[in-house]
Amino acid sequence: MKKKFNNSLNINNVGEIVELYGWVQKVRNLGGLIFIDLRDRSGIIQIIVKPENKFYEKSLELKNEYVIKVIGEVVERESKNKNMETGEIEVELHELEILNTSIDIPFSITDDTTALEDTRLKYRYLDIRRNEIKNKLICRSKVTKAVRDYFINNDFLEIETPILCKSTPEGARDYLVPSRISKGKFYALPQSPQLFKQLLMVGGIERYFQIAKCFRDEDLRSDRQPEFTQIDMEMSFVNEEDIMNINEGLIAHVFKEIKNIDIPNPIPKMKYDDAIKYYGSDKPDLRFDMKINDITNIFQNTEFQIFQNIIKNKGIINALVVKNSSDKYSRKDLEKLNEFIKTYDANNLFYLKYNNELSGSIIKVMTSEEQNDLIKQLKLEENDLVLIVGGPYTITKHALGALRCKLAKDLNLIKKGDYAFTWIIDFPSFEYSEEEQRYVACHHPFTAPKDEDIDKLLTDKGNCYSKAYDLVINGYEIGGGSIRIHDNNIQNKMFQALELTEEDIKEKFGFFVEGLKYGTPPHGGLAFGLERLVMVLTETENVRDTIAFPKTASASCLMSEAPNVVDINQLKELGISVNK
Ligand code: AMO
Repeated sequence: MKKKFNNSLNINNVGEIVELYGWVQKVRNLGGLIFIDLRDRSGIIQIIVKPENKFYEKSLELKNEYVIKVIGEVVERESKNKNMETGEIEVELHELEILNTSIDIPFSITDDTTALEDTRLKYRYLDIRRNEIKNKLICRSKVTKAVRDYFINNDFLEIETPILCKSTPEGARDYLVPSRISKGKFYALPQSPQLFKQLLMVGGIERYFQIAKCFRDEDLRSDRQPEFTQIDMEMSFVNEEDIMNINEGLIAHVFKEIKNIDIPNPIPKMKYDDAIKYYGSDKPDLRFDMKINDITNIFQNTEFQIFQNIIKNKGIINALVVKNSSDKYSRKDLEKLNEFIKTYDANNLFYLKYNNELSGSIIKVMTSEEQNDLIKQLKLEENDLVLIVGGPYTITKHALGALRCKLAKDLNLIKKGDYAFTWIIDFPSFEYSEEEQRYVACHHPFTAPKDEDIDKLLTDKGNCYSKAYDLVINGYEIGGGSIRIHDNNIQNKMFQALELTEEDIKEKFGFFVEGLKYGTPPHGGLAFGLERLVMVLTETENVRDTIAFPKTASASCLMSEAPNVVDINQLKELGISVNK
């Protein structure tokens, strides 16, 4: 058995005879001396082979990625390499055994590979040999350990819930698994353990957690995978503050363990309505300021027809002030930003530049009074750029929210290694779905409304708020949860508000609603996306980097070629035929 990792050796081990195992990173033949870079999970150590060594000839056979066993003596290096953890030492080879060879690899195992991601995904096992991916998997393992330690120390029980479940729509499409025994029936893979964890509270478990696999058949993005993992928790006899506090403790513990960073205590809270108002997003990136300003008031009596119409239609005119940047944006750049906001359904991006006086696309339609008011209200300073969008409230906010993040990236406003945490609280209970022409649940149908809004559930849905909260780090929704409805009457009222019929309820959630009748304790919980947490901890913007064997944007695995066709007999057994 291998007993030592390369990086466990240092100058204090000089003189020791060691037995090392790993892969050949590189072999160099320097005028008689052979240098082998031996790589294992922990890092690289240099092996030196002298011409008189009886394994000298064998060393010449070595190629990249051969697997070898080395026995040798740790010696101090003459010329030390400060860039390597083991750079003060090397191992003088006594014995060499080639444990396996390797065919030529499709890309080199280096930090700065130029290989395309598709190639790296096809040969993912080779990609995992690279530090970039390996270190993220190490981080992920440390996070799950820290999570388990924290919850177990706080009296939580780790309990697994089923993967073969009943389909209970939770927002995304389900992945379905056909049943062989009950032909024509299907299991659904869980989108989250939501109903089960609530039933564990009915079951008297009081404090539950799980590192839970979840599956959602939804459009994929850079922070979404079809198969992902939640750090899932639920507690009985708690209110919103209690859940937020215990989870702040968890995040503090994780950041301390992984990054040795003390996070803000307490994490600040922002109301959902304010997040939209000032940042145009329910997951605002607070690593930079640049709030959205409402300047509708300035144009109340405007001559400018476009703005007149917006105001007449109860829309808003909002602006971002990009400090000290008017000289950085040419007409062409601004046209590109205009195209950008159009992808968010906004109509037009107007701009003003402040250099002693205002100039820009709408200057001709502004009175000098409006100009002065704008300068004062936005506290404009020399070289500021003002970007203006008008239209319906939500579209305008979202477009400027997205533009704000784009500008921060383009202008390098975000310092590497910075973290900004916030809770988003007081979410609306419902959001209006234009598609379905009805109010749908903002979180899920089991989220408790604010006590003062219970009476409005059926009469004033647009003004109902819930006991839900999300944790946002650096513009990512890292986790979310809520206090649940434990009262059967309120749960029924909520179903009614969501226009679910008796049959719908019985068919979809019958077992769950039944459970709620048997002395359900007040309870609530939260789930973090493990991948997203690892993304912010390892500062990557690609969720795939945090998963050993991830899927592509079209939900396939390039390595194993899943999904794939199955044997006709398998389909027959399941009573399934495929329409081509
Ligand atoms: P929610 O749907 O908000 O809540 O999910 C919780 C967290 O899971 C992560 N997440 C994802 N990560 C990667 N890929 C995905 N496709 C994906 N979808 C979600 C996010 C998100 O914040 N049952 C509730 C939680 C609760 O109320 O306790 C739930 O699933 O980080």
